[in-house]
Amino acid sequence: MDLNFPLPPSVTLATGPNGLPRLEIATPLAEAHLYLHGAHVTHYRAHGQEPLLFLSARSRFEAGRPIRGGVPLVFPWFGAKAGDAAAPAHGVARIRPWALESAQESEDEVVLTLRLEADADSHNDTPAEWTLRHRVRIGSRLTMELEVENHGATPFTCEEAWHTYFHVADVREVALRGLQGVAYSTAIEEPHHAQQQEEPLRFSRETDRVYHHTSGPYQIEDPGLKRRICIEKSGAPSAIVWNPWVAKARAMEDFGDDEWPHMLCVETGSVGPDRLEIAPGAAHHARTQLWAEAL
Ligand code: BG6
Repeated sequence: MDLNFPLPPSVTLATGPNGLPRLEIATPLAEAHLYLHGAHVTHYRAHGQEPLLFLSARSRFEAGRPIRGGVPLVFPWFGAKAGDAAAPAHGVARIRPWALESAQESEDEVVLTLRLEADADSHNDTPAEWTLRHRVRIGSRLTMELEVENHGATPFTCEEAWHTYFHVADVREVALRGLQGVAYSTAIEEPHHAQQQEEPLRFSRETDRVYHHTSGPYQIEDPGLKRRICIEKSGAPSAIVWNPWVAKARAMEDFGDDEWPHMLCVETGSVGPDRLEIAPGAAHHARTQLWAEAL
């Protein structure tokens, strides 16, 4: 990869599995890995802490395929694309090479901005002309910002999410707080639409719920790792909570059969009824901040 600007001292351009270019960030406050493929953060660890993110040992690292774990980016649709069986699940952003637009460093953080443009293979419904930017801030917290610009002549409707895989000791022992009273949809439980009563949410089976109109914050309490993961967000009113459990884990070829206890996805974005409609010439901004504190 050719860059026409120098990288700051804390950032190295390295080569990950299968030759995929990866930015490695190491500062006194934190370390992280960021692939140009998907603008995908696969690793973040604040100084003195356990890694925040889960990354499957069975993940593919291949052009055109998503990485399993870390923070895949969902855009411009969530799940399967209605009416387009050939469209890739969760959109094109996570399977494309992105351009590194800028890299800066201050005392508190390293800031990397990556860019993806719409093209003829983006499965657009209309001749969409969008630019997506992912700004990743590596400091004592992991902060990510998504900016979607519509520079077309018609409104652009899209969905987006940070599909974050958190690393937990055992999902059966964790408690997720912050979703009480929030309405959700799920294809795998009856009823398919409900309002969450329980607080905290605990996990004893496959879970796949999309919560709407929720501002957060959320916390994952993990007694095994003796920590509380904190999730704050803005401009991203959906939360998706997912763990594949036993059978689904076995069915996924890029996920180990025994890995499901060690991850919990708490995703943040704008999907379903929270989808974005961006006027011509307008932009949408979303931000999430993740960190862990001792329990
Ligand atoms: C979640 C969805 O966001 O992503 C699940 O709610 C899906 O239904 C999961 O199984 C993983 O998707 P993928 O495409 O990365 O295997």
